[in-house]
Amino acid sequence: MTGTFNIQIDKIKKSRVSEYDINNVPFGKCFSDHMFVAEYADGKWQKAYIKPYGDEPLSYAMSALHYGQAIFEGMKAYKNEQGEVSLFRPLENFKRMNKSAIRMAMPEVPEEIFMGGLMELMKLDAAWVPTSDTGSLYIRPFLISTDEAIGVKISDSYKFIIICCPAGKYYGEPIKVLVETNYFRAVHGGVGFVKAAGNYGRSLYPTKLAQQKGYQQVIWTDSETHQYFEESGTMNVMFVIGDTLLTPALSDTILDGVTRKSVLELARSWNMKVEERKVSIKEVFEAIENNTLKEIFGCGTAATIAHIVGIGHNGKDYALTPVEQRAFSPKVDETLRQIRKGKLKDSFGWMMKVA
Ligand SMILES: Cc1ncc(COP(=O)(O)O)c(C=O)c1O
Repeated sequence: MTGTFNIQIDKIKKSRVSEYDINNVPFGKCFSDHMFVAEYADGKWQKAYIKPYGDEPLSYAMSALHYGQAIFEGMKAYKNEQGEVSLFRPLENFKRMNKSAIRMAMPEVPEEIFMGGLMELMKLDAAWVPTSDTGSLYIRPFLISTDEAIGVKISDSYKFIIICCPAGKYYGEPIKVLVETNYFRAVHGGVGFVKAAGNYGRSLYPTKLAQQKGYQQVIWTDSETHQYFEESGTMNVMFVIGDTLLTPALSDTILDGVTRKSVLELARSWNMKVEERKVSIKEVFEAIENNTLKEIFGCGTAATIAHIVGIGHNGKDYALTPVEQRAFSPKVDETLRQIRKGKLKDSFGWMMKVA
């Protein structure tokens, strides 16, 4: 029992963990022993269970596949030197999941199911949390509509599932990005501020075009004028110009990233000047020209900090300050790593220990 919702547990007979070097597996391809599933039908959450990770029969007529009622979250668990497992700000992901659910006309996942399922799963699969300095267990909660019916309508049935995979560093090297001024990721009134699966599907083609030109990612700009930065790939984007940390203000076209929030809290605690506002392409390229641009970086759960060392715009490439000469983002990266690994006092109360 967790809270008031009973979770049936079917434990795996023999763990697969020894078959992998979990400190060195490719991101997102190796899954832990168990998965959590909760089923929704007839207007309420019906049952919740943990079972060995594996396929479940789903219909090809399933609503999520055709009409996109599909949302997800991404979060991480870390292990300290004593072998204790903690989650980084899981309640933020819980709240964001339900923001997404509301926007996509899906049922909200109760806290006792989201957190209860997560905690039980972490206890069972603790051996899958890497011990390496940069390792973590990536956790993927997702909610899909499961009505077996063709025809656009709000589904009556859903599954909320959590699966996990050990993860190392996401980007091995600093990255080069292209400012995207043709395609866009999100529009006002749309779903850019939530983690709807469709947001990611639509981003793949422009990203492929950028990758064909030698960039790893795009930086999205606003859909109306293409003059303001929004996000970079699946990360929020930040700039250090002079002594100020700048990042686009949240809006309905920008995801409220947990890493973004944490970076801003750290910067403010270090008395750095922080501005959350519209950031224009013009001011950033002027800052590059007059040497006041110190850093551009992306931040998100998968990468934590992705240092951006090259930026392309209007057919021209600009080389940015090498990572070794950057003061702020490497310090943020290291501070977050140490807090997560229990090596630095968690004075913000970000870590939640798995009991
Ligand atoms: C579009 C987008 N922006 C930003 C982020 C960063 O958010 P977080 O720091 O919560 O991972 C993500 C990843 O979840 C994302 O998909």
